Amino acid sequence: MRLNKYIASAGICSRRKADALTADGAVRVNGLLVREMGYEVKEGDVVEVGGRVILPETGRVCIVLNKPRGYITSVRDAQKRPTVMDLVGDIPERIFPVGRLDFDTSGLLILTNDGALSQMLTHPKHRIRKTYRARVAGVLSDERIARLRKGVDIGGFVTSPAELRVLRQAERATWVEIDVFEGKNRQVRRMFAAVGNKVVELERVAVGEILLGRLKEGHYRKMTRAELAYLGEISRG
Ligand code: URA
Repeated sequence: MRLNKYIASAGICSRRKADALTADGAVRVNGLLVREMGYEVKEGDVVEVGGRVILPETGRVCIVLNKPRGYITSVRDAQKRPTVMDLVGDIPERIFPVGRLDFDTSGLLILTNDGALSQMLTHPKHRIRKTYRARVAGVLSDERIARLRKGVDIGGFVTSPAELRVLRQAERATWVEIDVFEGKNRQVRRMFAAVGNKVVELERVAVGEILLGRLKEGHYRKMTRAELAYLGEISRG
């Protein structure tokens, strides 16, 4: 397969951009710089763009799952509880979840067989926005909202500024949407607990520009080309 087609099929960019990257010296095959646009990629060739190994679409699987509550985000569970892998059992490639959602959290979970992509998405330096919808117990006062926005101590770690929108306020519950930029264990639950509101329901609705949309609970879809290109953009910084 021609080099530019191979790069484009990994969702990194268009073929034209792939040619430009090749001319710029950003592409290596089997560790060697390749500037020849007509290069034919052979089976077994390892292609790197900007220092990262890429996988063409044929080998790479990136899916978006709407995880229901009551599933463990793990490839297997010693206690034999249902895992997210039970929901993607018909995918033959060896995919694994990127990051983790709690047993009781629902929503957007990415699964892939691309280790580099997984590392990129979870690496703190990229500060990828994760958007959650939460129902919390009680009223969320302005003072608490201000604290959450500024950053709160969740036990040895102060969260970076979060974005928070109150969607609905009732007498005994508040519905909010919150954007966080780290991925600490049980972060959103711990953030609300730190200001005195218990999270009752939690759903992740977006990871960066990848949106859960109308995907039904327990269902999955393949990422779109636009989503793959967006991930390619982030990984190139
Ligand atoms: N924050 C949490 O508290 N739980 C999740 O599952 C994800 C983020």
